[in-house]
Amino acid sequence: MYLTREEEKMLDGEYGESYSKCMRLLVTVGEMFEAKRMVKVKSCHVSGVSYKNIDEPGLKLLKSFFEEGVRVRVKSTLNPMGMDREKWKLIGLNKNFALKQLEILKIFGGMGFNLTCSCIPYLVGNKPKTGDHVAWAESSATIYANSVLGAKTNRESGLSALASALTGRTPLYGYHLEENRKPTIHVKVEYKPSNLLEIGALGYFIGKNFPESIPYFSGLDWLSMDGLKVLGSGMASSGAIALYHVKNLTPEAAKFSSKELKEAEKFKVGLEEIKKTIQDLSEENSQPDAVFLGCPHYSLNQIRDVMLYMKKRRVKAKRKLWIFTSKKVYEEAKKIGYVNLIEKFGGLILNDTCMVVSPIENLGINSIYTDSCKAAHYMAGNFKVTLKSLTQCLEAVFS
Ligand code: F3S
Repeated sequence: MYLTREEEKMLDGEYGESYSKCMRLLVTVGEMFEAKRMVKVKSCHVSGVSYKNIDEPGLKLLKSFFEEGVRVRVKSTLNPMGMDREKWKLIGLNKNFALKQLEILKIFGGMGFNLTCSCIPYLVGNKPKTGDHVAWAESSATIYANSVLGAKTNRESGLSALASALTGRTPLYGYHLEENRKPTIHVKVEYKPSNLLEIGALGYFIGKNFPESIPYFSGLDWLSMDGLKVLGSGMASSGAIALYHVKNLTPEAAKFSSKELKEAEKFKVGLEEIKKTIQDLSEENSQPDAVFLGCPHYSLNQIRDVMLYMKKRRVKAKRKLWIFTSKKVYEEAKKIGYVNLIEKFGGLILNDTCMVVSPIENLGINSIYTDSCKAAHYMAGNFKVTLKSLTQCLEAVFS
């Protein structure tokens, strides 16, 4: 693999052991995938921020990097951490966990990371342009960057994205190359999903049945930003999909000739597949202890929808309504008055964390309603999870 002089210096340890470790990791990955060279990245998004996920070994590695004085070379954001900085006590998380989590955050801050911890980095200041090479971890963010923004990234791990943030490089292979971005399956959507749950379920179905594909959808050009977000998150959680195109909507869709589309496999999908997907991911459960919303993190519009639907109705005693979002979106929602209206009537908005990476298994919550297929996919082992539309979720917790 060809390396520039600067990359060689990093590899050879001229800037210290930590940069050398990062470069070694990137070269190993590059050689595995037969990359000819590295490419400079415009931004990085790093997962593996929660102490629940990285534990002591992760914290030790980060500490060693920090103590050696390494700093990010490009704009770099973080995925959700294990708790809300202010409300962790309120929901019953333990102090030891909180202290460890704050230590991790401090280290990331010291290395120059932007400390908004969110899986929607593109809404909070890390929005690459079409054609930019980036190195993003977090499957739902990665698929959005590739498909909706037209940036170029592979599905990075937390570690490889960290290595890219510190070196400013990623190996040039996979989705960084134009020839690997062509659709492999043409999906004709014959039913118009009626809410975000159904859009997510459509994505989940495609990811499960065509896990290695690059889908090209027709019949979805009416999707909003939130629709594209949940479609991608569904595909990326049930499959290894990192790129899709939507006819007349996403930036690269118009590039493909009718010949290329003809060569792609064809598939039709409708209401039946969507219904079955929701059913398969749901447990029978008539009384949720809690409603969890915000996987991926809710946008300002989604928080507004919750506020409007609540219509000043109160959340039942002993029920919980938790909404997860980024600190930045939360601040905007607070300024407009959404936060006050939701929290005054018993909802809780948690920032920079999420239901999957937070250690909430021991808080006495057993059954959950959520509108997210990704959340259902990851939480099923620890909770009794039922998928419902946003309005059904909310109706279930109001008194
Ligand atoms: Fe985001 Fe956590 Fe879901 S990182 S996509 S809210 S699992």
